[in-house]
Amino acid sequence: MFISFEGIDGSGKSTQARMLAEALSAAGHEVVATREPGGSPGAEEIRALVLQGDPERWSPESEILLFTAARRDHLERTIDPALTAGKIVVCDRFADSTRMYQGMRREGLRALVDELHRLMIGREPDLTFLIDIEPEVGLYRAKGRRGHEERFEDMGLELQERMREGFLGLAREYPARFVVIDGARAPEDVARDILARAQAALAAR
Ligand code: ADP
Ligand code: TYD
Repeated sequence: MFISFEGIDGSGKSTQARMLAEALSAAGHEVVATREPGGSPGAEEIRALVLQGDPERWSPESEILLFTAARRDHLERTIDPALTAGKIVVCDRFADSTRMYQGMRREGLRALVDELHRLMIGREPDLTFLIDIEPEVGLYRAKGRRGHEERFEDMGLELQERMREGFLGLAREYPARFVVIDGARAPEDVARDILARAQAALAAR
């Protein structure tokens, strides 16, 4: 089973992806925890190219190609081999992030993202947890751990609000795999909710 986590910056994806991977491992499953952009040596190199430096460094089109190239390598080297071996893959962000962050930049780009996805990736997670949170809370949390990968976190509140609405729209677009989780609770409460939903999905397979 392929599980992804999505949401705006600071929503708690990394925290929850780690907690779910730990809980599923403790329950006896073989779990591969990974992230995007990155998750394979080549994709981690592309990560540095897209997340560091001048915000104007790449055009939206070049950026879509870079994220998709990273995803293709990640899929070939990490995700597909793990799924073939019967493991559970828990991934912090996947293609829905490109649909939002690159696809919402300008009219027409979402179609480009979807077309490239169809050509080069062609797979969706089985289950996607959207951790939903007020942008104010997300920005406040994200600033607490600010480092050098801040090209996208400098976006500001208004854009984060559009992203939040966009992610909720994606959840309506793909209702079979999306589960929307209220992220404005203690991490343990959020994690309990997510584990229950993941176990139900595993039991139903
Ligand atoms: P994301 O991966 O979505 O950007 P993180 O998991 O890195 O989010 O969390 C961002 C910051 O907020 C971290 O410092 C983390 O410890 C903190 N955090 C995560 N979940 C919660 C929560 N439920 N309540 C309060 N703080 C949280
Ligand atoms: P991430 O490390 O998950 O940051 P955070 O923990 O702050 O959510 O992702 C880094 C940034 O990369 C994030 O701002 C969103 C952006 N991103 C895209 O723009 N497109 C993509 O396809 C992916 C996977 C991430």
